[in-house]
Amino acid sequence: MKKLQISAPGRINLLGEHLDYNHGIVLPAAIDRYFKFDFEATDLPSIEINALDLNESWDFEFSQLNALQTSGWRSYVKGIFMLLFADYSAKNISFDRASLSYVPTSLGGLKIHFKSTIPIGAGLSSSAALCCGLAFGLNEWFGLGKSRLELALLAQQTEHQFAGVKCGLMDQVASLFGKKGQLITFDCLDNSIETFSLPLVGVQLFLLDSKVKHNLAESAYNERRAQLEAAWMKAKELFPSIESWRTIDEIQLNLLFAHLDLNTQKRLRYVVDEIARVACVQALAQDISVSGMNAKLSIEPYKELGKLINQTHEGLRDLYEVSCEEIDFLQVNLIKQPEILGARMMGGGFGGCLLVMAQDSFDFNSLKSLTTSYHAQFGSTPALERIALVDGVRVL
Ligand code: GLA
Repeated sequence: MKKLQISAPGRINLLGEHLDYNHGIVLPAAIDRYFKFDFEATDLPSIEINALDLNESWDFEFSQLNALQTSGWRSYVKGIFMLLFADYSAKNISFDRASLSYVPTSLGGLKIHFKSTIPIGAGLSSSAALCCGLAFGLNEWFGLGKSRLELALLAQQTEHQFAGVKCGLMDQVASLFGKKGQLITFDCLDNSIETFSLPLVGVQLFLLDSKVKHNLAESAYNERRAQLEAAWMKAKELFPSIESWRTIDEIQLNLLFAHLDLNTQKRLRYVVDEIARVACVQALAQDISVSGMNAKLSIEPYKELGKLINQTHEGLRDLYEVSCEEIDFLQVNLIKQPEILGARMMGGGFGGCLLVMAQDSFDFNSLKSLTTSYHAQFGSTPALERIALVDGVRVL
């Protein structure tokens, strides 16, 4: 019987938070937390999906799928199937008069098991990994010939249309284009993707999972996006030749602010500042690589990088307002430790993981008193997660 195994990683983001839908450049990477999928041919006409971690399974006939009401992981699965096969008319696909749609004639007879080591709601993009891994696997299984970028866009549309989150494309790009030991430069204006290495000499990156998930996240995310889109319409009206937030200058910004409410002004201030910080990180990464080649790497550029990471946190907390009390408590206390160079909330916000950069000599046991006081105040224990940067979605 035909079989296929796929792994699909979660992601971190070094800098450029909330810039993927704000004309920015983002710097994510795939990490060693994965969805793993097993595809297997069966003799049955239906498709069977097993979510092993949840001990849940779902059987459906593809021709009925459109009419099925779904929630949770089933909505992502439905989205990927619906979008991947929506307009496809290659061999193996026939037009079904009953449902008035294209149906892959060999689509039944498929069983998929999946399980994951990506914590849900931790800001590591488990839903993007689910969608990208499933889309990639189906693309392989049916020989659909879609590119990785097409699959990323399709996974993003699944979030928009089937989960109601108007996300950018960063998570999907990280999951599909990750490279071992590398970070990605993803330019969200033209969807160009490059990888670069940031030699971590004398420093290390890790995650601290706050274990908090506020369900505010999705509505607040869409609200931020709507605020910035409205601001952009106004900017285009005032300055017709403006191309993106990347090129707005301070004079234009002040003129535009006069037309925006206070909250939108703060959101936009964050975006413009974060775009500038990403440019600084790109320059620093260049310096680090060059001095790394000359073997005279010092800690100084990492200290600069740490400062930028901290500034991003402040912006997300005070201007973009997507942090939360628990994360802020951890961040403020982490950066009091001299060997921690930078710490910030990561991902959409309102909980999840902090990304932390520390000197190699940092003793993790020194976090004990912080985790104890966190527990006393918030009732849960944050978890330290060491991470490695890995390849994107692949066949195992
Ligand atoms: C979520 C979204 C991404 C991105 C980040 C914030 O993870 O899915 O598209 O906007 O938040 O940087």
